[in-house]
Amino acid sequence: MRPATQAVHLGRPPHEPDQPLNTPITMASTYVAGGALEYGRYTNPTWTAFEDALGALEGGRCLAFASGLAAVGTLFDLVGNGEKVVAPRHSYNGSLMQLTDLELRARVKPVLVDITDTEAVAAACEDASLVWLESPTNPAMEIADIPAITEAAHGAGAYVVVDNTFATPILQQPLQWGADLVLHSATKYISGHSDVLMGAVITRDDELYDVLKGRRDLFGAIPGTFEAWLALRGLRTLALRVERAQTNAQELVRRLRERADVTEVRYPGFGGMVAMVLPSGEIADLVQHSTDLWVYATSLGGVESTLERRRRWKSEPGTIPEGLIRLSVGIEDVEDLWEDLVRALDAAAAR
Ligand SMILES: Cc1ncc(COP(=O)(O)O)c(C=O)c1O
Repeated sequence: MRPATQAVHLGRPPHEPDQPLNTPITMASTYVAGGALEYGRYTNPTWTAFEDALGALEGGRCLAFASGLAAVGTLFDLVGNGEKVVAPRHSYNGSLMQLTDLELRARVKPVLVDITDTEAVAAACEDASLVWLESPTNPAMEIADIPAITEAAHGAGAYVVVDNTFATPILQQPLQWGADLVLHSATKYISGHSDVLMGAVITRDDELYDVLKGRRDLFGAIPGTFEAWLALRGLRTLALRVERAQTNAQELVRRLRERADVTEVRYPGFGGMVAMVLPSGEIADLVQHSTDLWVYATSLGGVESTLERRRRWKSEPGTIPEGLIRLSVGIEDVEDLWEDLVRALDAAAAR
């Protein structure tokens, strides 16, 4: 099955008379003992349906988590005391904050790198225990050479994690390039409707899977059952949504690049995420408050277009321009999106 078909068909009950087409929401904290399920912190059939579908899309075995950051924390916990973690200096700021916290407690030694400088990243992999990749990065939109960095990391004996939240398995499947683990904030494109918080980790390594499953069982960073059901419902349309968001993004990027008042447009050529750099933080603030259709909101990957000046967050690295607005392009009609954005850009220019 190809990805669009997998997204629609996997994680469903068997095609047998009287079976529902959709996996039911199983509300259970415990199960009649003696079988495989036992307790609600270990397993839930609704999670399993979601995990089967997303796992197949990424090409491995999936574990669902309470949020993207619950999954991030569980992966950083794989690193031994005092060991080195290589990560992009422009990783999602929540992942960076976790690394800073771990460093302050002398748990790990983070080394932050320019992920576009493959040679420097490969050199930094020496003695590393974990190499963290995010590609494209949020919100700098940088691309990592995942196969080359993975080879260098494996040469040094390090595990490789790829945060695949922006690209989704529709556009990029890092396990095929040798990465050991893929991570998602399933809150974003996977669920796709800005109504769920969830995370996921996918791996082909059975040992890693067992360790992570054991940690999830023990720490309880599990998703709610209804969340898993909503995420699976959202996943059904992932291919369509990503395709449409990408078409819209490509057209908006083409038009934005023609505007003299937009300093820079960062777009790797695929996906629905775009960064537009305006001349100052003040102008960017005006723009984000002047749209009607585009929603001024954090988060991304929903059907509705959202925008946000990222440096409004104190935790965003200082190397992200003050005037950078992250655009999460939705699936609306591109002409409506463009008209609204132009109105806001013109209003800011006129002030
Ligand atoms: C790339 C990336 N990774 C991880 C996360 C964290 O996910 P969550 O908000 O579901 O905890 C986010 C959230 O914005 C993200 O953008």
